[in-house]
Amino acid sequence: MTSPYPHLFAPLPLRHLTLKNRIVFGAHTANMSEEGFPGERHLGYYRERARGGAGMIVVEPVPVHRTAVIVRGNFLHDSDAIIPHFRRITDEVKSHGAAIIQQLYHVGAHGDWDNSFSENWSPSGLPSMFDSDGSHAMTDAEVDEIIEGHVAAARRAKDAGFDGIEIMAAYSALMEQFWSPMTNRRDDLWGGSFENRMRFSTEIYDRIRKACGEEFVCGLAVAIDPGAAVVQDIESLEAAVAWHDERALIDYVTLGRGSYWGFSTIIPPVFEQAMKGEEFAGRLKAVCKHARVQCEARVKTPENGERIIAEGIADMVSIVRGQIADPHLANKAAAGRAETIRPCISCNQQCIGRRRRDYWISCLVNPSAGREFEWGGDGFVAAPSPLNILVVGGGPAGMEAARVAAERGHKVTLAEAGDHLGGTWRLAARQPMRNEIEPHIAWYEAELARLGVDVRRGRALDADAVRAFGADKVVIATGARPPLTGYQRGLPEVDSLPGVELGNVCSVNDVLSGRVEAGRRVLVIDDLGGAWQGPGTALWLAQAGHEVTIVTRDAYIAMETARGSSDKPIRKGLAKAGADMRPMSAVTRWLGDGATIRHLPTGAEESKPFDTLVLAETPKPDDALYRALSGTPDVHAVGDCIAFHFASGAIYDGRRVAMAL
Ligand SMILES: Cc1cc2nc3c(=O)[nH]c(=O)nc-3n(C[C@H](O)[C@H](O)[C@H](O)COP(=O)(O)O)c2cc1C
Ligand code: SF4
Repeated sequence: MTSPYPHLFAPLPLRHLTLKNRIVFGAHTANMSEEGFPGERHLGYYRERARGGAGMIVVEPVPVHRTAVIVRGNFLHDSDAIIPHFRRITDEVKSHGAAIIQQLYHVGAHGDWDNSFSENWSPSGLPSMFDSDGSHAMTDAEVDEIIEGHVAAARRAKDAGFDGIEIMAAYSALMEQFWSPMTNRRDDLWGGSFENRMRFSTEIYDRIRKACGEEFVCGLAVAIDPGAAVVQDIESLEAAVAWHDERALIDYVTLGRGSYWGFSTIIPPVFEQAMKGEEFAGRLKAVCKHARVQCEARVKTPENGERIIAEGIADMVSIVRGQIADPHLANKAAAGRAETIRPCISCNQQCIGRRRRDYWISCLVNPSAGREFEWGGDGFVAAPSPLNILVVGGGPAGMEAARVAAERGHKVTLAEAGDHLGGTWRLAARQPMRNEIEPHIAWYEAELARLGVDVRRGRALDADAVRAFGADKVVIATGARPPLTGYQRGLPEVDSLPGVELGNVCSVNDVLSGRVEAGRRVLVIDDLGGAWQGPGTALWLAQAGHEVTIVTRDAYIAMETARGSSDKPIRKGLAKAGADMRPMSAVTRWLGDGATIRHLPTGAEESKPFDTLVLAETPKPDDALYRALSGTPDVHAVGDCIAFHFASGAIYDGRRVAMAL
């Protein structure tokens, strides 16, 4: 069979290695270490991507010095004790034919004292952009200490079996702070002229080559942030990269997006759907005579990767979230089964969203991410004997349960009361820029069809109908319904909003589904902590020309979406559309044609006219069927019909239960 991706799967010589394909699982902090050591979780995570066919894996960064520690989960920075632990990972990854590289980092001025317990070290003592700390301008001896820190970390990587290292200059890290005259104000050997500003990185790569020998790959990670005037522009980056390339200091350079000045674009959220990295990767490719060039950020699919390489924009592509979402992306593409790749939806909710809460990363669409060591990877063990399984409810929990049960060899029927699969997940896709949810639902539909699941739409089953069906096992995934009480956590003593019975009140689902047409002046109460439901619907209405007021008890609008870097674009969109944003507030009375809004810190109240009240409130489990069947053996409930959670919880539940059927 001719490969549909001939360029993507062409082997690539890289120093002493030949990569089997051009798909890289690029560097990212998975935050999985245990007491500074990579453990079983890390091993399972990387093993699965190597098994899944990635040509090269870049392992989570190691800080090169005590001042470089920035997250709790960082690996030990100065200890040979990590070597045997990493050796298990490098052996495993290599056994699947993938190359393995270790990222090294130091973010200079932008460190985090609460994790490093060290002052930030930088070229010129400028303030941190991470928090309100200042930084210490390094002495000559300290610059040398940091250079040696890089060399020691590279030597440890070599001893642990890594094929090479990649140093993160990207996102305004220390190396870039030396390169840029904006952050390097020194007038000694390390600053001033272009040559002096390049000295720090030149020394590092020179000394690493001497310490680690010729058979060791040296990579460089840089990034571009076209939206931030204070960050290196493409011309300066070209000059820096060309300098290192001409001297054969680097074997590859990878180009990412964003910076500490515009943090949210580093891992582009739904609002950054255009692939702005390509043009710049092409510019670096044009100046590199020796080094390979890698394009990263929102490459996402094999189609994009193939095009980027075929058009000569880059030699390889990093696909991070795409392979978190489906670790077998490369093998599926190589086998001509790209349509079976589970798509990443750019939500950032369970990858960087979990990392920001200091948990190990996982994935909304793929709950096996981070659990591979417990779940045996992302695949499934065949059921001991095929059973007749009935799944009631076709939202995310039901679709996942049906899919996994069918993968395991069961005969599965999925009954959905509505005309479409997806439930409220389908409605979520209607919010601005959330259209990437649609391919996720389409993937489920295609997978269910491929696996022979009998999908019956427009079938609401009661307990008698379920019993009459005669399944060996029943999975109930009937979801949850908005209670329309107007309860607000900002006024916890009030069970139901006074006046809610006066009418013109609906849920976000009513509005998004088109069941209710909102009037001109809309009040949205967000009682879901700033998750997508309230602010996303408010934005959708505001952009459609409604006069929107959004009220929440939270300190700012769209607070929960901050974990996935979507909060600022939502607030910007609301502001642009003229919405009235009321954080730290609650609605004390609905009047049928208006409302009284209280500012919680001061208690000041204000009445305002409205035509429609839209409630984003905690849905109530639709558990009537489950309760009617309670006590019946072999009945399981999954997802929101037990207790409301986000889609991640529903998909996790569906997978967990179906793996045990
Ligand atoms: C959870 C997470 C942590 C990340 N941490 C790092 C990091 O430590 N170093 C780095 O160079 N890039 C890091 N990145 C950025 C990725 O390398 C990549 O540039 C970004 O995810 C965009 O690519 P994608 O669209 O393929 O995911 C991280 C990404 C994610 C999702
Ligand atoms: S959590 Fe969301 S953004 Fe992150 S990898 Fe999964 S689908 Fe993609």
